Amino acid sequence: MELISQTAVEGVPGPGYPEAYPRVDGLAFNDVVTFVAGQPYEAFRRLRATSPVCWHPESNGLPGFWVVTRHADVMRVNGDPQTFSSQRGGILMNTPAPGTGHVLLGRASFDTMINMDAPHHLQLRREHMPFFTPGYLNQLKSKISLEVERLVSGMAGKGECDLVDAFSSRLPLFTLCEILGVPEADRPRFLEWMHYLELAQNLAADQAVQQVAPSLELMQFVSDFNTNVAEMFDYGRFMLHKRRADPQNDLMTAIARAQVDGQFLSDEYLDGSWLLIVFAGNDTTRNTLSGAMKLLTEFPDQKALLASRADLLPNAANEFIRMVSPVIYMRRTALSDAEVAGQKIAAGEKVIMYYGAANRDPDVFADPDRLDIARSNADKHIAFGYGPHVCLGKRVAQIQLEEAYRQLLARFPDIEWNGDIDIAPNNFVHAIRRLGVRFSS
Ligand code: HEM
Repeated sequence: MELISQTAVEGVPGPGYPEAYPRVDGLAFNDVVTFVAGQPYEAFRRLRATSPVCWHPESNGLPGFWVVTRHADVMRVNGDPQTFSSQRGGILMNTPAPGTGHVLLGRASFDTMINMDAPHHLQLRREHMPFFTPGYLNQLKSKISLEVERLVSGMAGKGECDLVDAFSSRLPLFTLCEILGVPEADRPRFLEWMHYLELAQNLAADQAVQQVAPSLELMQFVSDFNTNVAEMFDYGRFMLHKRRADPQNDLMTAIARAQVDGQFLSDEYLDGSWLLIVFAGNDTTRNTLSGAMKLLTEFPDQKALLASRADLLPNAANEFIRMVSPVIYMRRTALSDAEVAGQKIAAGEKVIMYYGAANRDPDVFADPDRLDIARSNADKHIAFGYGPHVCLGKRVAQIQLEEAYRQLLARFPDIEWNGDIDIAPNNFVHAIRRLGVRFSS
């Protein structure tokens, strides 16, 4: 199977057809700093209202892209993989030329099923599925519940703490390690690797600014970053080869023994599959766990309702995911000329779907900026995507949110966000690095 990292191409410069809607001034969705104050909901509102398919220029010779913000239009693009390819340019905003950026990380972020089109995508996805079935997840749920109990007990008596450090970063990691089958002794290393992976975008921005005279601090950080990333891939490759030779009943074995066109995955695809599962399963759930606490503090009536109505937890989990929408965007590349909401899109152009915008579309969600844990259509959010690539781990994320808030609110009825928050400069994932909480027991 050819390597996507070698064949993916950047979009073509556009727009190739006249713009059906006016441009919105001041958009900088390609700038990671735009997202440190949270998602740009005001810009999303303007875009949905006046320019639902809006051309966004890029600088530095990059080709620009279409911004899609309405719920129906995101569904349209997500649901038409024959026209809107994940593979042609990958799912990230920019397709670096081979040999630029962090070699291993750059390559691995491409050679994975999330960047594949039919028919290989489905062949590989199918191999992961046994670890995401209701039967498998039921037995996982009791383990998640015990881990939540342990983490909540660890917070008791502290009065105030960083929820990310004490809870949100730890639970998804535990869950992922359980599904993958990572031995207990190796698990603490995952926390460190995640810390560096989250900073990848940040590092690229700092390096660009300090190209001429990088500070000692930056050089040290780059060295630690490279060591950690290399360690993460070495570990993944070692374990996957081990499982290929000695299969166990875990997701690591399923990936190691997956076959596409009758062949085991090459080492490049093992690296990519490893990166995808470690990143996709962790970061997204972590940020929703933290974001939910902020929302419950901003909407105290909803917190009181949830504390008294445990039966609302599954719907509340969906409502948290709708409002946080931790994956900011997914990109596609048009394989042929197409039309979305009356805007003609030329073959080769990049189309970017903004999930946070779609999930607050007033045509679908009444009073969309309000947390409403009893919302009758909370499950119509598309934070997990839609179509053939729809998130494999969606139920895993929901179970964690349900268990987390069942126990957090029962154990600390007055727990609330204390106003302290730090959001990473990242335009792909809404990444909450620190969220202070206080509670009295
Ligand atoms: C709130 C939590 C989560 C959100 C919002 C989320 C979001 C998404 C989105 C939007 C996609 C679609 C990509 C596309 O259309 O190109 C996706 C794919 C994926 N997610 Fe999640 N995710 C979450 C949690 C998880 C968890 C817990 C796991 C694993 C344990 C996971 C594993 C995956 C995988 C493997 C894919 C790729 C599927 C494919 O390409 O067929 N995700 N996720």
